[in-house]
Amino acid sequence: MITIQNLSKSYKQKKGQIKVIDDINLEVAKGEVFGIIGKSGAGKSTLIKCLNLLERPDSGKIIVDGVDLTAISVNELRIQRQQIGVIFQHFNLLSSKTIFANVALPLTLQGKHNKAEIKTAVDEMLSLVGLSQFANKYPASLSGGQKQRVGIARALITKPKLLLSDEATSALDPQTTNDILELLLEINQRLGITVVLITHELEVVRKICDKVAVIDKGKIIEQGNAFDILLHPKEPLTRKLIIEEESDKYLEKVKHFYQFEKHPNKHILLLSFVGEATYQPILNIISNETNANFSILRGELDRIKHMPFGQLLIEFDGDEGSLEKACSIMRSMKVHFEIVH
Ligand SMILES: Nc1ncnc2c1ncn2[C@@H]1O[C@H](COP(=O)(O)OP(=O)(O)O)[C@@H](O)[C@H]1O
Ligand SMILES: [Mg+2]
Repeated sequence: MITIQNLSKSYKQKKGQIKVIDDINLEVAKGEVFGIIGKSGAGKSTLIKCLNLLERPDSGKIIVDGVDLTAISVNELRIQRQQIGVIFQHFNLLSSKTIFANVALPLTLQGKHNKAEIKTAVDEMLSLVGLSQFANKYPASLSGGQKQRVGIARALITKPKLLLSDEATSALDPQTTNDILELLLEINQRLGITVVLITHELEVVRKICDKVAVIDKGKIIEQGNAFDILLHPKEPLTRKLIIEEESDKYLEKVKHFYQFEKHPNKHILLLSFVGEATYQPILNIISNETNANFSILRGELDRIKHMPFGQLLIEFDGDEGSLEKACSIMRSMKVHFEIVH
């Protein structure tokens, strides 16, 4: 669906020229929800702006559905852009226009003026996002979540194949974030629209992304399936973004509460289970086959998109032989583990 090849973009700043996007290559398959995560200033917004050529890259190709957007005329680009809807963190609605007029805007900009056709299209979109009764209201009277629903309706009115989202839920509270993510997932699944989103919120990745790429200083440093990246990130920065925010936070608490002290026979292990492995009685098996003891410090069972996963943080108390045996059992049962302390 999307191929990004050798994409680079620099900006002139006071300090001189800075490379904000540095030779990025990415593939997004049709129907995927693809998340791009990274720290503030990493280049996320610039990357997404390059995707529909809101920003023109210095070099590289952006191929959407077989068309290289960097190589076509302004007119052709205008047509291709109708295939790409965009939603924003701050919704970007026109406050002087009704909800109906906001959603209709992309059609009017395309030169469509048939009132009946516009009404049918807008009504369909407002119904999709659950805002039919708000057509004649103005943005100021809507909540943040409702405004984002209007933003989504407006983005989808040209029936795009691709939806780009720049931190669409970052201004919303957790419950509203959840509702909007559900809506995006429904749109992705029911309408088959490919979604590329950038976010700094792990919850977003966890809930709706199939794939994830991590961007740092304009480069993609790691990418893969969402559950691989979330459960066992490899790059130090990804670990910082993901593990520190999750397990290390608990590890700190655990150290504090249990006054865990480094002891040659004591280790803290982080076990991750995906899919079938989630339901195996792994600790029982280890306990039967070794003479180690353990205490569970933290346990979590959740889903990454539709895939069940579990994570257990345990204090393992046993000699070298028991630890080796436990590791080999975990390997054979395909339980991913890390000795974190
Ligand atoms: N129009 C611009 N002119 C100059 N510098 C810019 C411009 N847009 C972004 N930048 C710089 O590019 C870097 C990446 O910005 P951005 O893509 O917005 O990051 P993110 O969305 O990951 O926070 C930042 O250092 C930012 O200051
Ligand atoms: Mg940004």
